[in-house]
Amino acid sequence: MTAWERSEFRRARLRVSVLVGLAITVMIAFVGAIAYTVMVQAQQTEVSRELRYNIAYGVPGVAPKCAWVFVLEDGVLDVGPFEVPGGFPLRPDIDAVHTTGTAVPRDVTANGTEYMVLTSPGTDGTTVQAVFDLRYQLADRAHLLWALAIALAAGLLVAALIGFGVGRRTVAPWAEALARQRRFLTDASHELRTPIARAYLRAQLLAAAADLPDSQRSNLDALARSIRGLADVVDDLLQSAQLDPRDAKPVDLADIAEAAVVGETERAAERRITLALDHPGHPLVVDGIETGLRRAVDELLANAVRHTPEGGRIAVSVRSVDGQVELVVADNGEGFAAADAEGLFERFRHGPGEGRFGLGLALVREIVTGHGGTVSAAGRPGGGARFTLRIPVAGRRAAERERISSACP
Ligand SMILES: Nc1ncnc2c1ncn2[C@@H]1O[C@H](COP(=O)(O)OP(=O)(O)OP(=O)(O)O)[C@@H](O)[C@H]1O
Ligand SMILES: [Mg+2]
Repeated sequence: MTAWERSEFRRARLRVSVLVGLAITVMIAFVGAIAYTVMVQAQQTEVSRELRYNIAYGVPGVAPKCAWVFVLEDGVLDVGPFEVPGGFPLRPDIDAVHTTGTAVPRDVTANGTEYMVLTSPGTDGTTVQAVFDLRYQLADRAHLLWALAIALAAGLLVAALIGFGVGRRTVAPWAEALARQRRFLTDASHELRTPIARAYLRAQLLAAAADLPDSQRSNLDALARSIRGLADVVDDLLQSAQLDPRDAKPVDLADIAEAAVVGETERAAERRITLALDHPGHPLVVDGIETGLRRAVDELLANAVRHTPEGGRIAVSVRSVDGQVELVVADNGEGFAAADAEGLFERFRHGPGEGRFGLGLALVREIVTGHGGTVSAAGRPGGGARFTLRIPVAGRRAAERERISSACP
């Protein structure tokens, strides 16, 4: 398994554990919120009942636990013989109730605790104020919150462990399947290369034999070309199986563009196609896998040469834009419908009547997106094609270096 795959699988495991953890956390938080709300409601109902009872039957001299009763009778306020918490009684409320005859409930925060206060008309023209100190209820609530927090932390830990285990089990078969597929791909490509190279050589030798009739010679040439196409596909498969992010290093895209142009010069000249290269004359460096990037640029240029008629023109340009290196391959060849542009990057997608495989652009996109970049196509039928590739300049990617790895499935 490549480093990229390992990190992808680690990420997948992490995602699963985070999701399981999140689900358990939400569950505990939900249950906790319900428990807390029910508890607060129950306490408030209980204390309200107590206050009403004290209003009806409470006497200042008889002290219930955490409660006080004050009675205004004939203009005299009886606060009882016990020590009264600071700020009480609430005289304005007593006077207001005495005047209006309407009960006034109130929550008061004072003396480091909370009080529920009910001021109400009493019997025989009195006005009664009942006060209840909520400190024990508050302590109970705090205990419940602590218990919930501890349950949450324990739940999270258990969730992480469960998630990790579940993630491992979920991802392991995929990892194994991928590793097997990669092994198969690499082995098969390796095995196929030699016989294909031999077949190509034989076809060429046969085609070069002096005593062959022309029709057979052209058939053998066609056979050699087909075998070469097959060799290209096998190379692509091998390339995509072998790209490894550990090979990433600073790569000069201007240099790669130049090499690609040099590589196609002969083929372009045969068809009188003008090849122009435009770059600023200094290195335009990205962090990447050189073989992959070479393959991508070569493919864009090879496609352009293939789809540009004799006497056409292909322009390759490289420049730096907004922290990215932009490489454009534009031709004035046959082009394609704008609506088809995105589809060209799909595997096995090729134009009508083409004997190729339709793998090139798919591989280009795989490589480029793996370098944290983008590749797009624009074209018009008969109006040429333009492929734009953008990759973050070297260094800028240090933070997201990990993403390079997605070039290497
Ligand atoms: N420069 C271009 N101008 C016009 N059409 C293009 C150009 N480049 C690519 N295409 C279209 O996109 C299709 C897909 O290209 P791609 O490179 O993926 O496959 P291919 O060249 O047909 O086969 P392969 O690259 O696997 O040998 C091509 O078949 C062609 O129809
Ligand atoms: Mg191609």
